[in-house]
Amino acid sequence: MALTERQIMLVQTSFDQIKASPEAVAALFYQRLFELNPHLRLMFKGDMKEQGQKLMTMLKVAVTSLTRLDTIVGAVQGLGRRHAGYGVSAADYDTVAAALLWTLEQGLGPTFTAEVKAAWAEVYTLLATVMQQAAAEANPALVLV
Ligand code: HEM
Repeated sequence: MALTERQIMLVQTSFDQIKASPEAVAALFYQRLFELNPHLRLMFKGDMKEQGQKLMTMLKVAVTSLTRLDTIVGAVQGLGRRHAGYGVSAADYDTVAAALLWTLEQGLGPTFTAEVKAAWAEVYTLLATVMQQAAAEANPALVLV
């Protein structure tokens, strides 16, 4: 799975449009996530504002590094192993994808075209795949369902 230059450009430009208000974006994201699956709320033990900051910072790093993904693979793998520890399942990754795409749509409005959406879906799948593979390699007995 490789991103095209155009997909990278679309994701970076659209992220630029929403990154000025990371708190609002994160709040909207978690609101939608817990609407989609209220059980997920129990997984989060810390302050949700801090959690939102961590999520947006990590997204910013990932989006900025799309042209040199090799520099962040190690960090993303570590993130994936920690997420297995938080109890995150494969289905939860899909729910997060849906919440993220929905949030981007709210933030970007008409500029969130089908092409921009597909580019974001590709980026998310790429990150989620690296995270899940690292978790599975660290613990082969772990079956993600
Ligand atoms: C691309 C996907 C994701 C990114 C970039 C991301 C990012 C982060 C970051 C940066 C943290 C801070 C702690 C750490 O670094 O280990 C975190 C924690 C966490 N994430 Fe994610 N995450 C992703 C996917 C998910 C998914 C699919 C779930 C499932 C619901 C999830 C649930 C959690 C939970 C439960 C915590 C710990 C909260 C706590 O300690 O209270 N994340 N995530």
